Formats: sequence, structure tokens, C-alpha cells
Amino acid sequence: MWGKRTGYEKEGRRVRIQFEHGEGQIEIVNPWVINVFSPLHTQEHESRAVEHPNFAFEDCDFRVSERDGRIEIVTAELNVKVYDHFHVDFYDAVGTPLCLDYRGSRDPFLRRGNVDIAEGEGHEAMRTTGHHKIQILKAMEGGEKFYGLGDKTGPLNKKGYEYEMWNTDDPSPHVESHKSLYKSIPFFITLKERAAYGLFFDNPFKTFFDMGKENSDYYYFGADDGNLDYYFIYGPDMKNVVTRYTALTGRTPLPQLWTLGAHQSRWSYAPEARVMEIADKFREHDLPLDAIHLDIDYMDGYRVFTWDGERFPDPAAMIEKLKEQGIKIVTIIDPGVKKDKGYSIYDEGLDKGYYATDRDGVTYVNTVWPGDSVYPDFSNEPVRQWWAGNQKIMTDAGVAGIWNDMNEPASFTGPLPDDVRFKNDGRETDHREVHNVYGHLMSQSTYDGILNATGKRPFVITRAAYAGTQKYSTVWTGDNQSFWEHLRMSIPMTLNLGLSGFAFNGCDVGGFSHDCTPELLARWVQVGAFSPLFRNHTAIGTRDQEPWAYDEQTLNAYRKAMKLRYRMLPYLYDLMREAENTGLPPMRPLVLEYPQDESVQELDDQFLFGSMMLIAPVVEQGKRHRAVYLPEGKWYDYASGEVLEGGQAILADAPLDVCPIYVSAGSFLPAYPDQKYVGELKIKELLLDVYPGTGEYVHTQDDGESFDYRSGSYNEYRFSQSEKDGELEIKLEKGNSGYAEAYSSFRLTVHGLSVSWVELNGEAIPFLAEIRGTTFHIPAESGTVRLKR
Ligand code: GLC
Repeated sequence: MWGKRTGYEKEGRRVRIQFEHGEGQIEIVNPWVINVFSPLHTQEHESRAVEHPNFAFEDCDFRVSERDGRIEIVTAELNVKVYDHFHVDFYDAVGTPLCLDYRGSRDPFLRRGNVDIAEGEGHEAMRTTGHHKIQILKAMEGGEKFYGLGDKTGPLNKKGYEYEMWNTDDPSPHVESHKSLYKSIPFFITLKERAAYGLFFDNPFKTFFDMGKENSDYYYFGADDGNLDYYFIYGPDMKNVVTRYTALTGRTPLPQLWTLGAHQSRWSYAPEARVMEIADKFREHDLPLDAIHLDIDYMDGYRVFTWDGERFPDPAAMIEKLKEQGIKIVTIIDPGVKKDKGYSIYDEGLDKGYYATDRDGVTYVNTVWPGDSVYPDFSNEPVRQWWAGNQKIMTDAGVAGIWNDMNEPASFTGPLPDDVRFKNDGRETDHREVHNVYGHLMSQSTYDGILNATGKRPFVITRAAYAGTQKYSTVWTGDNQSFWEHLRMSIPMTLNLGLSGFAFNGCDVGGFSHDCTPELLARWVQVGAFSPLFRNHTAIGTRDQEPWAYDEQTLNAYRKAMKLRYRMLPYLYDLMREAENTGLPPMRPLVLEYPQDESVQELDDQFLFGSMMLIAPVVEQGKRHRAVYLPEGKWYDYASGEVLEGGQAILADAPLDVCPIYVSAGSFLPAYPDQKYVGELKIKELLLDVYPGTGEYVHTQDDGESFDYRSGSYNEYRFSQSEKDGELEIKLEKGNSGYAEAYSSFRLTVHGLSVSWVELNGEAIPFLAEIRGTTFHIPAESGTVRLKR
């Protein structure tokens, strides 16, 4: 495509390279991150994911030279070699090949026979994918594993699969053959024997990814339009890849603490009396709850930003009443605006030319819930501002968060045609370029609107997303079904979303379509308890999916899992802070922490919660035991306290109300006492479970809702522990103390040690020795504790 090289020049952080048939450009983002660009569509980058100012971009030294017919660009960490035909190879600083272009041509595995006949019976014919205008083939060595790519179905490791990025609302049961779902996150991580690197193909058009399915000698990504614009992101550690990718595309900001509590939803809770009944039942059954979601039926004829006056005569008063029970309301807002003269939102948008149009400039109409509807042009800044302003209609009534749905964008009477026009912030374009970022831009505008209206950390949930949406919104995996396969697959789906920057994610607990069986619900909630976003949600017409709609055993198992979730909230909150600082997700595949352990590289029916808790849920009907692989190190069985050696598989007992959990030696796990909702108790004493070994932990406390922590209003407590001569020493160092409502004390429970003596700063203190552990209290001040056997 490009032909031979004809020249090059260095220009700031970029090296521009001329070829016979076009221009290429290498940009040094920082010593580990390199952008490869060719202006095939626009002269400059036009990214919705990589926003500026951007702290990933660092001024750094690099050298450029020309030798042996190639250009070499050397940073402190990488050596990038650029050849004719714009072939680009990446090496580490000592010359180890990391990622090399594949020089051969595409050569699909042979397919035999006439597939038409198979199609005749209704089979999906397997055909070789066509060539793309842009296609980057990378050589495969053989041992690579691929992770990321957002919400795709199938296993954790994507090797041998192909995918497309085209945001798709597909209500059929999601299975491995689905090439696209609701989100387009064109980013993946390659793990090799020596190193990990990421590739982010920042192209919003439909993109194609073949991870060695077509031929095991190469993998490729491509598109038929847009720019060639991809980032090579070096590790060598896998965690660094996630951290650097999220530095570039943005990180999930620390959410409000209540958003990490339980959310209860159904299509649709209405009228008001039903919502109040749900709230009461949660309390009656001693089930913690922080939010109820109102699906589309709260609206007046599905008109967004309105309420059905009969079902919800006084939303503000209802929300106020729920507040007394500690429950908040989240409302759904879809993009489709009902085409209805006299409906103020529709009229205003029409007046101002805020909707997408057909190619003749006539407002484009398709059908969604309200019937004929128009599509706000979120690619245009004034429209984003208008939509942001509308959020106040909801927040003024007391709504605590907004759930954005159907924003792929979805439609009922055929897909939006390619030629639907969008203003695209001044460079008009068509649907092909806006489709994959539509939900992203809607979430951005929703986030900005809530922030302006409330000043608090906005809570937005979106179904459609593009790379970078994690800055604005949490996500769920869309319309799953109440099937065991979907519970099973939700684990790799959400783990890969986490690796793709979406630290705050979850799926519909219990499954959306179909009827959830009691056992499936009991097992699903055991996984949901560790998903950053916990929401039980189901479709209209399915059997009741609230926990009390089941038998006593299921209800008890549900309550037990939710109480554990609420106990762990300070830990999850610390993990969300870590996500804001590093991009690392709370829910992690084991490979992220133990990349060199081959036994975990494909493990996706167990996962880590942070780096310290290993969760091994049961995801098959009737199972009461399961094999669990423990990586190297010492592990404590969370339920029994038994100490287990890692580096082996064990058989765990898992009765219906038990999800096997293990905690690594050296851990600290902060915990809250039993609460019905976040903030029910003013917590003056934090609980802290200690698992003896060597380790450190930082716990942070703040107001849980404002951005004041960014200007220093937080308290930091640094814990460390080490074992010496049969003694365990635990140190607490108080760091920043900017938040006034500080804890006064900690209640420590040290597990797995029989203790005869506990002292604080050299003075003996009282303690309680129980089978579960040794418990004692210390003031929330710097100090040293010693425990003697
Ligand atoms: C879509 C959403 C689902 C919602 C329904 C009605 O199917 O994915 O969560 O309940 O629309 O709004």
C-alpha cells in the first residue's frame, strides 16, 4: 500500500516518514508507548478515546537513525524499526523482538466443500473474511495468549477467535460465535514468554480482529475506513500494559461509595407502590440494598426526561421517602427521543437542529420504545451540552444516577443506514464513523451533566461504549440470559472488560431473559458479590427474581453473599481507588498477578479480587465441590482458616451457600460491620482481618461522595506486617490526615496464629483468642503491634 520509503524527518515527538504512496508517522508517547499513524482519513488524529491534555504523553529523549534500509527509533525502553511498505517492528532495549509485522500475505486455512448446502439447512456458513483497506498483520511465535477486547464472548484467552467491533444490541443468547456485542474496545494484550505488550487500534469505524483464527502464523486487525492509528504499549509486565493503556485512554474515577452497594432492578418496577414494596421487602428480609433502578416504564409514554404522572405522581416525594430507608433511585435514559410535537425535549432538539439527519439533511427517524424516534447527535458539542443540561431534570427530583441504554444506537426497524449524517464537532461525517462512539459520547454528556448539577462523583451506567468510556461510566454486559453458560461466561467477559480499562463493570445478576432457577440465583450472587457493579436485573415477564421470591435456602444463600459484599466494601473501595491510580481492575484474572504461571494463563472460572483474595465460584448446576488452583505462596481458606500451600490444585467443598475463597498470606482486609446500606452507621472503628505473612496495605478513608479527596480531604492508613522468630509484627503508619471524620480505632483479627501475648508500642494489651482468630483493638494512630505465640 505504501511502497518504498523516500525520506523522513523528525518533528518534535514525531518522526514523519514519506513513502512512494503515502505518509506514515511514528510518535513517541513516552518511552514505552509508541503510536503508528497514517493520515488515510484525516490529516491529524481525531480520537474520542485519547483526550488532551493527557498525562500519558511525556517529553522524552529518543534517537532516530537510518541504517541498512530502515529507520530506527530508539527510546530508553524500545527500539522501533520502520521499513519499506510501512512495516514496523518493535524490540526491547536489548534487542529482543517483541512484536514484528508479518511479511507474508493472508493465507487462510483451507475450507473444503460447498457451504451453500450447509446454509440450506440453516447452518451459519463459515467463510473466510475479506481483505480490508487497512490491515496490520503481526507475526505469531506460537505461545502467545491474547486478552482484552472488551465485552467479547468466549474464553479469557482470545487466541484462535475472530471478532468485530461494531456496537450491537443482540438479544439472542450470547455464545462464542458472536463477533460483536454492545461495546467496541479495540485494545488487546499479548502475553508472550518473556513479555507482555498491548495494541490499541484507535479507529471508530467497524474494525476486525483475527487472533490467529485464519492462520496460526499471524494475527491481524483491520478496518475499511478511518486512519491507520494504533498504539504499541510495552509492559514488559502485564500490569504495566493496563496501567499505560489507561493512562492514555483514561481511568475510572473513584465512584461514590454507595454505588458499590447492592442495586436491584427489573424491567419495570412501577407504580410507586411497587417500588416502595420492593424497598420494604429488602428491609423485611434483612437484605442490604442501596439502589433501585427504574426501567423504561417510569416515563410518560417512554418520553425521556419525563415521569408517568399516574404511576409516579410525585417522584421527588417518593425519592425522599426511600431516602429514609437508605435507598436511592437510578433511572434509565435512552437516546431515542419520541417524535412528538408538543413534547418539549423533542421540540427543542428539533428547533436547534440537534438530531442526526439523513443525507438530505432531514431529521432521521427510526423506531425504539416510544415508536417513531429521533437520535440526538452526540458527536456535536452543543448537543452534548444540551443533553448534559437535561440531566438536571432528573437530579433535581433526587435521582442519584443515570442508566444509559439502547445507545449502540439500537433501533427496531432495521439498522441505522450508513449514510445517516452527524455534525461530528465541525467535520461532518456519517453513521459509519459515529456508531461505535455514540454511546461513549452520550455517557460523557451524561457524566458532565450530573457533575454540573450535583457536584458529586457522577454515577452513570452505559451499555454501549468505546475505548475510554471508563472515564465517564460504569458498564454492564447487556442482555444476558438466566443460563448456567451465561453465568460461566460472565467471568471471562468481565475479566476482559477489566483488562480493557473498564474497572467498574458487572453483569445482570441472575440473568436478564428467561427464568432464573433458585440454584442459579444462589450461585450467581456469589460471583456478583465480587463484581464492582452489583445489580440483580431481569426482563419484563420473567418470574420474580428478587431473593424472597425463592425458597428459604436460596434466600439465605443470597443474604449471606450480600452481607459478605457489604462487609468487604472498604476493601472494594480501596480497590476502586487503586483503579483510579493505576487502571488495575478490582476483579482480575489470575494471569494478571501470576503471568509466568502457565497453569493460570487460561484460567477463567476463578479470579482474584484485588491481588489478595482468590474467588473460586461454582458455575455448574448440582456441583457441591470444585477444583481450585492456588498459585505459589501460602493461602488461607477464608471459611475454615486452614492454611494451604500454593502451586497446586485442591478440591474445595462448596455447599450451596458457600463460594470457596482464599486469602494470600501477608494480607490485610478492611471490613465494615453489618449495615443495611452504605452510611447507615458512622463507622468509628474499622475492622481489619490480618492473614499472617509479609505484606503491606494502604487503606484510605474519605467522604465517599465528593471530589474533595483530590484536594487532600482523605485519611491514609499504611499497614505492614512481617514474621520474625515466631512473632508477628504489625505496623500502622498514619499518612495524610485531611479528612476530619477519621476513625478512632481499628479492630484487628489475626487469623491462623495461636497467640499468648499481644503488645502495642511495648505495652501489653487485652485480646480475645477464638478459633476464628485473635482479636484486639488499637487506636487509629501510628504504632507497632507484636503478637507472640
Ligand atoms: C434493554 C436493556 C435492558 C432493559 C430493557 C428495557 O433490553 O438491555 O436492561 O431492561 O432494554 O429498557
